Order: sequence, then structure tokens, then C-alpha cells
Amino acid sequence: MIRKAEPYRIKMVESMQMISREERQKALQEAGYNPFALKSNDVYIDLLTDSGTGAMSDKQWSALMLGDESYAGSKSFYKVKDAVSDIFGYEYVIPTHQGRGAEQVLFPHIIEHKGQYVLGNMHFDTTMAHIEMNGGIPVNMVIEEAFDTLKEHPFKGNFDLVKLETFIQEKGKEEIAFIIVTITCNSAGGQPVSMENVRGVKKIADKYGLFLLFDSARFAENAYFIKRREPDYERLSIQQIVREMYDMGDAFTMSAKKDAIVNMGGLIGIKSSKHKELFQASCATCVPMEGFVTYGGLSGRDMEALAVGLHEGLDFDYLESRIGQVEYLGEELRKRGIPIQWPVGGHAVFVDAKKFLPHIPPEQFPAQALTNELYLEVGVRAVEVGSLLLGRDPETGKQKVAGAEFMRLTIPRRVYTDRHMDVIVSALATIWERRETIQGLDFEYEPKVLRHFLCRLHPIENGAPGSLIDVNPMVP
Ligand code: F0G
Repeated sequence: MIRKAEPYRIKMVESMQMISREERQKALQEAGYNPFALKSNDVYIDLLTDSGTGAMSDKQWSALMLGDESYAGSKSFYKVKDAVSDIFGYEYVIPTHQGRGAEQVLFPHIIEHKGQYVLGNMHFDTTMAHIEMNGGIPVNMVIEEAFDTLKEHPFKGNFDLVKLETFIQEKGKEEIAFIIVTITCNSAGGQPVSMENVRGVKKIADKYGLFLLFDSARFAENAYFIKRREPDYERLSIQQIVREMYDMGDAFTMSAKKDAIVNMGGLIGIKSSKHKELFQASCATCVPMEGFVTYGGLSGRDMEALAVGLHEGLDFDYLESRIGQVEYLGEELRKRGIPIQWPVGGHAVFVDAKKFLPHIPPEQFPAQALTNELYLEVGVRAVEVGSLLLGRDPETGKQKVAGAEFMRLTIPRRVYTDRHMDVIVSALATIWERRETIQGLDFEYEPKVLRHFLCRLHPIENGAPGSLIDVNPMVP
């Protein structure tokens, strides 16, 4: 297939610079070997996240001027509501400041009692936190193939349907709060979920009368993969695929900072009047937590950009170019022997640090060590998705061991060119040559909750054991 160039011209630029290696060394040391603590000015290419980091289009920027800043009933809200109705066919919409805002408003009303399970392919970390804060227990049920980075599989984000149904039968349907399908499945490497798999989930949800929710941060990228990879979907548009999928759900939460290409925003969508009471209850929670129900933490101008971005995110040429860039980065890395999750996901290339640095055990955080090395080499900031992020078992306090140790190279939308990708490839190829010299890490400061954001670390001198050896062979 011919890979076309970006379907846009660059109209405005932001300058950036690469500080010297000595300066990077100092910056990293001051950051406690935790790239979250780096100043963005000290970063050359920032691949920490694709969330809120995309470049808005000329149409989005001009829409900002139309923003209606009314506290209640803003016309900008009705544009978002119309976009949601056009695209997803959902009746009720509540805007929120971002995805986790949607989770905090909705989840108290769909988890009925403490100890109820929430069954997902693989929960994102804030989603997991909000489930736990409401007394629920998140359980991951992604297919085994997701953990084998070398295995070819078109839909590594799929649910293991046998596991799902067996679990419901064993625990009883009253013990299940809801089923959540995360598309694409971020924690498994931005891996898509097939339409056929969602159909299977829906069948089980119907059989046991369970509520079905989509975590929709990357819903358009998921639809693109379905069009490219699933039999019979080539002929449908991205919009048609999205609609077919959302027809199967009861509601969605969305971080609009990804596929809707805005810098801030989130949404709750509820399909129909069957769940009117849920909508009303969520509205009542939204007011004190996010703001009045027609702005939910967003300004009128934010909502204008969101209404435009929701449609732009569905454009096939854009998706082909965006995911094509991620594929380009993945293919170039593979050519140089660098182990990555394959096939690559929608928003990121996940480098397999377990295979890259086999001499560093999980409790010394190989993916974090690799992330730091990449920053030192060329000023690129990636992010660890492995045992450091996973944390300790809340009951025993023991370090958990992730099913995969990933360094995520997350590509912002419409921001970097393939030349930037080439810089990353050559830096990682250089590091690959001296991989045996890289050392693991241990804590200097470890916060109790969501420690990966704020912890401080230090490199372990040759051969010294990490303080956390306690292996629990559990997958994330
Ligand atoms: N769900 C998924 C699948 C996500 O990837 C995220 C955020 C959220 C929910 C929460 O949304 O950040 O708007 O509150 N993911 C970002 C990331 C932070 O870097 O992957 P939010």
C-alpha cells in the first residue's frame, strides 16, 4: 500500500531545542530519575503521552471564537451534544474536564455495593483508581496473546470471552457491577478490539443483564483498525463502524484529549431513556464535582473545539497518516532488531524492555531504566508502563510484577514529522549496542499512591540487589 503524506499543511510552528548531554544528565538527576519531573523545556521530543498534546486544526482554532461562555445552556454545549448524537447516536451527554472526570461522575452510580467486580479487557490506571475508590474490584480479562509481544494477532485488545463468562458464572451476576471495553486497549499497547469480540461481549452482557460501558479515549483509532483488519469492514466508513460498535453499548466515558484532538475535555454519553435515571443521578453528581451540566469543567471555547474535533478524528486520511506514522516508527525499530509489541498499536510503540534489558529484574524497573537512557541519549521523553506503574499489592505491600515491561513511545497527533521518528530510531539503535551497560533503579522516595508520577529513584551500582525482590507472577 502506498503511504501518503500527511493530509494537511503546517500553518503554525512551535520552536524547540535540544539541551546538551551534560545538561540532560543534570536535569535527570534533579528529576530523581523520573521523567515526569522533567521540565518540558528540557525535553527535545516529548513522547510522554498523546493526551491533550495534539495540534488543533485551523477549523478548531477558528471555532474557539464562537465559544458561548454562558454558565447554563451554552450554545457551545449543544454543538457537542449534536456531535455526540450524530456520531454515536446517544441521547444524553455530560461534558467533563477530562476522562477521569467522567469516571468520577458516572462510576458511583453503576457500582451498587462494595466488593462488586468490574470486568474489563484491561483497565487504564485512573479508571482502575475510580473503580476502587467506589468500592469496586477491577479485573482484567484481555486475551493471553496481549502479553506475547512477538505474536502476530490483529486484535490484541480483545476480551477473553471464556474467562469473562466463567467469571460471571462463578461469582454470580449480582456481584458484577458492569463490563467495560477499553478501545483501543491502552495498557495492552494501544491494541484494538474487534467488532466480533465486542459482539461476543454484548451477547454475554445481555445473557446476564449486565451494563456495557465503552472507555472511548481512542474510539476512532479502534475503528480504523477494524476497517483495515477485520473481514467485511473494509467497505464501511469509520463513522459507520463507530456507530455499529456503540449501538451495542449502554454508555461511554471519554477522554476527549486523544481522538477528539483537544487539549482538554471529557464526556459521558448515555444511550437512551432506558437509563434516564442514571443520567439524572450523574447530572446531580456532576454539578458539585465538575460544574453545571452544560459545561462540566469546560469553557464554551473548549466545547466548540471539541465539537469540531470529534468529527475531524473520524477522517480516514488523517487516521491513515497518524497510525501510518506509528507503524513507520515500529517498523524502523524492528528492522534494527529492537524488540517491540507487534503489531504496533494506534497511539504508541511499546518497546519490550524485558527483552531489551534482560539483565535488569522487574523490581529494578527495566522500562524506567530504558526511558531514562533514551532521555540521556537524545532528549526524548517516553514513559514506563510496567512494574513501576503497577505498584504494590494493597493487601500485602509487596511489589507486583507486570506481565510486560514496556517503554511507551507515545505519538502526539499532528505534531511531529517522520524526521522526528528517525531521531528516535537512531538513538534507540545506539542504546541497543550498549544495552548491557544500563543499570536498574531503586527508590529514594516512594509515595504510597500512584507512585510512578512522583517517586524519586537512583541507579543501582553494579550487582547490588534491589530492595523490592518479591515476585508475584501476576499480570497487570
Ligand atoms: N481511559 C483511557 C484508556 C486512557 O488512556 C486515559 C488517559 C483515561 C481513561 C483518562 O483520561 O487523562 O483525560 O483523565 N490516558 C492518558 C495516557 C493520560 O497518557 O495514556 P484523562
